[in-house]
Amino acid sequence: MSVHSNVKRVTTHTLQAMKNAGQKISMLTGYDFSMARIIDAAGVDVILVGDSASNVMAGHETTLPITLDQMIYHASSVVRACKRSLIVVDMPFGSYQGNSKEALSNAIKIMKETGGHAVKLEGGQEIIESINRILTAGIPVMGHLGLTPQSIYKFGTYVVRAKEEEEAIRLIEDAKALEAAGCFAIVLEKIPAELATKVAQTISIPIIGIGAGNGVDGQVLVVHDMLGINNEFSPRFLRKYNNLYEQMMIAFQEYIKDVKSGDFPNENEQY
Ligand code: KIV
Repeated sequence: MSVHSNVKRVTTHTLQAMKNAGQKISMLTGYDFSMARIIDAAGVDVILVGDSASNVMAGHETTLPITLDQMIYHASSVVRACKRSLIVVDMPFGSYQGNSKEALSNAIKIMKETGGHAVKLEGGQEIIESINRILTAGIPVMGHLGLTPQSIYKFGTYVVRAKEEEEAIRLIEDAKALEAAGCFAIVLEKIPAELATKVAQTISIPIIGIGAGNGVDGQVLVVHDMLGINNEFSPRFLRKYNNLYEQMMIAFQEYIKDVKSGDFPNENEQY
């Protein structure tokens, strides 16, 4: 019997047990009640209420504009939908980088107002004070290294990170610092597979990859991307499990046709 099929509610301890048993962790983003209900019922281990909501839900070009209150709205909708998945909530840009006391009060606000189970912060040693303070309040923290989209204006582009040795060494040091601080897991985004595998083998906590190859402890994708809702985004790391853009287009066009022709509603669809 696998660790994860046995549990009523996935916890941070379940994820560690899965890593220890060599079982892979599944994670998807979720932003709203209806989608989260299906993701949870399907048995996905972790739902990340990602600040990618800024892109896929609100249409912003980057993750920077989304606010703490908007993240809380999305996360509380997801929490109401889920019975089993562990729910991790992204702390938005500006809510933890400046001052560790503010970081703690924002993390507490997220936990109180959403009912989520953990928070995720982007960065390594430069935000360790905020992470330490949040952890002292008993709030589980997931780290995020590699391509960290809140720093897009520093990076300049969304290309693969840590290809050069200097950045790779810094990433390993950051991962060790997050582990030592007490983070329960780390997301590695868009880095070479060989480096990600090395981190997963060096670090004892679960490493979840996105565009980081198969040698890590689990995978995460943005749900709209893997469903093929966004037909303009096809990076190499993305596997599309559906083509909902086309399927939805067909459904909407059929509806328009039926309304215009007077075919909908028929006599069985009225009172
Ligand atoms: O916001 C998000 O969706 C994320 C994932 C890409 C890991 O941080």
